[in-house]
Amino acid sequence: MDKFIIEGPTPLNGTIPISGSKNAALPLMAAALLGDSPTTITNIPKLRDIYTFNNVIRVTGTHVDFNEEEGTLSIDPANLAHLEAPYELVRKMRASFYMLGALLGKFGQARVSLPGGCAWGPRPVDLHLNGLRAMGAEIRLEEGYVIAEAPRKMEGGSFTLNPSSVGATINLVLASVLRAEKFTINNAAKEPDVVLLCTRLLEMGADIEGIGTDTLTIRRVNSLEGVSIRNAADRIEAGTFMIAAAMHPESDVTLTGVDVGDLGHFPKIFQKTGADVTIGDDTIRVKAPEKLNPTEIKTQIYPGFPTDLQAQWSTMMTQASGASAVTDTIYYDRFSYVPEATRLGADMKVVENTVHVTGKTPLKGASVMSTDLRASVSLVLAGMIAEGKTDVLRIYHLDRGYEDLEQKLTAAGAQITRADQDA
Ligand code: EPZ
Repeated sequence: MDKFIIEGPTPLNGTIPISGSKNAALPLMAAALLGDSPTTITNIPKLRDIYTFNNVIRVTGTHVDFNEEEGTLSIDPANLAHLEAPYELVRKMRASFYMLGALLGKFGQARVSLPGGCAWGPRPVDLHLNGLRAMGAEIRLEEGYVIAEAPRKMEGGSFTLNPSSVGATINLVLASVLRAEKFTINNAAKEPDVVLLCTRLLEMGADIEGIGTDTLTIRRVNSLEGVSIRNAADRIEAGTFMIAAAMHPESDVTLTGVDVGDLGHFPKIFQKTGADVTIGDDTIRVKAPEKLNPTEIKTQIYPGFPTDLQAQWSTMMTQASGASAVTDTIYYDRFSYVPEATRLGADMKVVENTVHVTGKTPLKGASVMSTDLRASVSLVLAGMIAEGKTDVLRIYHLDRGYEDLEQKLTAAGAQITRADQDA
């Protein structure tokens, strides 16, 4: 098991390339199973979650070829025959649950393991299951698996998501494009990952109205064709590096290969910190402010402030001059990084679903434990500006969602080395 050894404080300078998006790639990979011919997806990052999903898809008999050098994934469902996603793989990555919509949509049958728990609390899938029932599918639970069946043509109807859910929207779209006469999703998610999925399905021959709005109407088509498509750049990775750049007063970083349009309101909110932001066609330059402003932030569904940047933002606020409050309205208890950041000297207090941060607080290196993807990257950001040596343990969490993280940050001036935790 690996850890990061970080020597700080160090500013970041230079350019950092943004990789393909994990959260946009996963639904595109599931959608490829709906095609009658192979699909090729470019701009795919080398991440553990991608490897896991490749294996989930291979279990069905589908041929998957990942050219890591080029970042190109080819998925050919010609031999897809085994309509199951096993617990051993689904428990490693919740998004494997997209197999439910894809297999049910294409074959009218699926046996998919329930995803199970998560580091920061219950993440139910009731909206996925009730939405499929509303569409006309038979859904039952058996030994921790969802058993789903649907006729060739389902009448459809409508379903309202409350709260709005990225995953449920994706599963309902995947299940309906080949099967539902007419199905309307109200309060659908508008995240760029959902918009990209729907846009690519249109290229495959699907009939979807209202893309980018919170009302999606899908009408089934008889078949879909495989396509060659590009995956989006990772908007959460871009946001993470913008925050990293603002945390040290001497930092000046330019992010390249950014899908700027996918960042929603984040750049505007980010400017409240006092950082100097220059947005280009596919670049973002961040020059750190001398003094970071404290902020009051609430996470929201897209285009609002993303919950996946909450931990990184709260950590940045330890360097702001004054009191900040960061409220997570999507996940009420996504604060597992707080006790670890406190070990570095951060002044953070969680009250219900708000973390209150007092700054500016000098951080000092120590050993800290990763608990999940975004919590662990916030500890890396803290380690880069803490005095002395910080060990970030269990970085396998990071390898799930950040490609070449230590190489990218070291190239911009950080001092991060990967080492065997048990050595
Ligand atoms: C996606 O998760 C992302 N994962 C998450 O990113 C992200 O935090 C989340 O959307 C919110 O933006 C991927 O794209 C793979 P939701 P998802 O369904 O689809 C509740 C990361 O760090 N809900 O939109 O699982 C749920 O509990 C990951 O990359 C139900 O109540 O999120 C939450 O409070 C972590 N019932 C809210 O909806 C359901 O059936 C939003 O969850 C489904 C969801």
